[in-house]
Amino acid sequence: MPTEAAMATPERDPLTGQYTTGHSWDGIKELRTPIPGWWLAVWLASIAFTLGYIVFNPSFPALDGTVSGDSSRTAREELAKAGAKSDATKEALRAQIAALDVDAIAADPQLARFAFRGGKAAFAVHCAGCHGSDAGGQIGQFPALVDDDWLWGGTASQIHQTIAYGIRNEEADSRNGQMPAFGDILSDREIRDVAAYVAGLGDAKVAADRRAAMPGATVFAQNCASCHGDNGEGNRDFGAPRLSDSIWLYGASQKAIEAQIRNPRMGMMPAWEKRIGADAVKMLAIYVHGLGGGEANPPPPPVAEAAIAPVVQP
Ligand code: HEC
Ligand code: HEC
Repeated sequence: MPTEAAMATPERDPLTGQYTTGHSWDGIKELRTPIPGWWLAVWLASIAFTLGYIVFNPSFPALDGTVSGDSSRTAREELAKAGAKSDATKEALRAQIAALDVDAIAADPQLARFAFRGGKAAFAVHCAGCHGSDAGGQIGQFPALVDDDWLWGGTASQIHQTIAYGIRNEEADSRNGQMPAFGDILSDREIRDVAAYVAGLGDAKVAADRRAAMPGATVFAQNCASCHGDNGEGNRDFGAPRLSDSIWLYGASQKAIEAQIRNPRMGMMPAWEKRIGADAVKMLAIYVHGLGGGEANPPPPPVAEAAIAPVVQP
């Protein structure tokens, strides 16, 4: 208990030299150690700040929302405003996509980014079922869209055309190209020979002169080169795949190639523009083009001499 006598005159603690408060509990005395000035100042400043904050900003919950403060600004309103701004930006980007062709969209980085994201979402819904969610394709059925091996062309506008009108369907602008069924045209032996020749086309280990001497070389030149090219380089006008690489739509084995020669698969793809709309198709073209294998547009053809107007001398 504090004793009355001790409270009358302030007393110094002999050990620390500090005054005591005059309180003593069973002989233990309390030192008078005030709160440091800087601490008090910070504490008072935070109280002042809090009061100011409450005056100018939304703070306490109230029955009808929050106590909104002087600036009448609420986080809810700010969110709504930001949302409206972002909606307006998206609306503007969508309008641009509707107005421009794919080449113009691809040339504008902001627009192209927006279209790529939209195309990615549409791909998951409409295309992944056949081409795979990573667009890696399925051997023997659906081509990969992530490589630079294109059946029908790899520029943004060529890809756009393929997606919009599809392949081998009833649409007038559909991509078209047939490979005859050679089961009825060639003998079994010729089919075996030409398949062996085709299997070696993409094999760098088979020397060119040895390949030319193969019995299948003549069969190829007579029956296949018109579509697949003299050296099997392929032709995008007919969707005839390049045979001189290691990428195969229907398989690289002698058996798979023979099967294709006898009975070509003739892959079909539906036309998408009528189903999902022109804008979605543009975004999909930007997406597929951006997957890694997209090609740049070829440079414009050189202007012919005659087309340049003669300079008239005065
Ligand atoms: C029903 C299955 C199917 C669906 C769904 C499908 N495709 Fe295809 N797609 C194919 C087939 C089969 C081919 C190859 C046809 C051929 O042999 O030429 C192909 C080819 C393509 C090509 C050409 C590739 C090249 O090498 O030139 C592109 C591009 C393409 N598809 C994009 C798409 C996009 C984008 C979608 C979604 C809107 C889609 N496909 C949906 C089956 C499909
Ligand atoms: C009139 C054009 C045409 C002719 C002629 C032609 N092809 Fe094709 N070939 C195509 C087309 C188009 C495709 C892709 C069609 C498909 O999806 O089945 C193709 C696909 C192939 C494939 C599949 C390639 C792959 O990546 O899996 C092989 C192999 C092939 N042809 C071999 C031949 C051989 C061998 C001959 C000659 C005996 C021949 N073709 C003649 C147009 C032709």
